[in-house]
Amino acid sequence: MRERIGFFCSECGHESGNWLGRCPGCGGWNTFREAPTKRARRTPGAAPGARTASQPVEHPPEPLVGAAPSQEGRLLTHSGEMDRVLGGGIVAGSVILLGGDPGIGKSTLLLQLAAAVGNGPGMVLYVSGEESRQQVQLRAGRLGISCDHIYFSSEADLDHIRSALESVAPALVIIDSIQTMSHPDLPMLPGSIGQLRECTAELVRLAKLKNFGCFLIGHVTKDGALAGPRVLEHMVDTVLSFEGDHHQNLRLLRAVKNRFGATNEIAVFTMGERGLEEVANPSALFLDGRALDIPGSVVVSALEGTRPVLVEIQALICPTVFGAPRRATTGVDYNRVVLTAAVLEKRAGLNLTNQDIYVSVVGGLRVVEPAVDLGVALALASNFRNIPVDSGTVVMGEIGLTGEVRAVSQAEQRIREAVRLGFRRFIIPERNLEASSHHPDLEVIGVKTVREAIDRVMSDE
Ligand code: TYD
Ligand code: MG
Repeated sequence: MRERIGFFCSECGHESGNWLGRCPGCGGWNTFREAPTKRARRTPGAAPGARTASQPVEHPPEPLVGAAPSQEGRLLTHSGEMDRVLGGGIVAGSVILLGGDPGIGKSTLLLQLAAAVGNGPGMVLYVSGEESRQQVQLRAGRLGISCDHIYFSSEADLDHIRSALESVAPALVIIDSIQTMSHPDLPMLPGSIGQLRECTAELVRLAKLKNFGCFLIGHVTKDGALAGPRVLEHMVDTVLSFEGDHHQNLRLLRAVKNRFGATNEIAVFTMGERGLEEVANPSALFLDGRALDIPGSVVVSALEGTRPVLVEIQALICPTVFGAPRRATTGVDYNRVVLTAAVLEKRAGLNLTNQDIYVSVVGGLRVVEPAVDLGVALALASNFRNIPVDSGTVVMGEIGLTGEVRAVSQAEQRIREAVRLGFRRFIIPERNLEASSHHPDLEVIGVKTVREAIDRVMSDE
């Protein structure tokens, strides 16, 4: 059947028996081309490892449970933060997609990772379609890397990558970037959707076959999503996103998807003169230099993946001078702040109707979980009433529309992290009270409603 397909879309790879003026897949005009003669070509988008009918099956099916389990080898990168984000090192045969803004430090991060693996467990093949050998050498020099187990290739053709894999036999392959790779069987330009999908599928297949770990650097679009079809994220095992502010040297590596570990796990780095350095204690960094006893500042314990991180939430309320009141947020979810302000208005009697509201998280971290709701509410109330919240207090709790404070997950872990940093007073949901039973020396206040929380915090001062 497949042999009869004669045309395909050069943008998205959609196939058809007839030439079409407009592609039904991507809607592009005049994108259909005649398909090249099929030499053992897989259907674009077919599952990795899928073969055409004429090829013999290399690996017949085996019983899932009875057969000897294959070794889940993990390559340790010797960077505690990186290993943790990956769920305990790079799983051999897995493919990891790393996305991030241009210039954020993706190539730097992976070159440092290449050096860690090259100095330890195995060979590394670094394929760059973006930079020349001299450019990468310069970066390596700047980072003080003098490892001779890293092999470089600037050939972005999959045939060349295949032969490089034979000669180097790497434990780790780095592709910088997947948008520059090209599949020799496809006439489309590198970076087109069909090329992206085919190259990724082939690299996934090769990684499983030859059992190497593979990092793919992926470009992101203007609004931060990975460029290319969404299906890329389904094909790979792990998706990491490298975030940060160009004006600050703080960088966050976040696991968006991970088949071998927790998602939303973050690693914190600082970008310095000699590359990225890991920050072992991010809570201390985020709270560093905090002004104490200022109305509108509250410390919350937010869960990032499996690790609690303490951050300061700041709120500022001022009367609206003209037009509709403004609400602006940095680092917290805009809709949840609007919702929290509405709950404060209706359930706690704060008149915020004609007030501009600004809420931000200090330090560039983005906390989106609902457990920071109560912290946002108390920061708003504190600034509105001009009464500071005691700076040794940590707040957690989700707020519902009726003004109730709902329990948060892993309260005990959150409290433990705060205690480690010297906090002694906690405002938590009443239903989480037993989480603090291991710490009888702490002052833990359980609250049922947001009004009760405000009363307890403001009246105590
Ligand atoms: P790079 O890894 O090239 O970013 P990406 O691959 O994501 O586009 O990093 C580029 C930026 O990092 C560049 O602006 C310079 C900065 N940088 C440092 O500050 N210190 C360093 O040691 C290195 C290598 C880069
Ligand atoms: Mg780069």
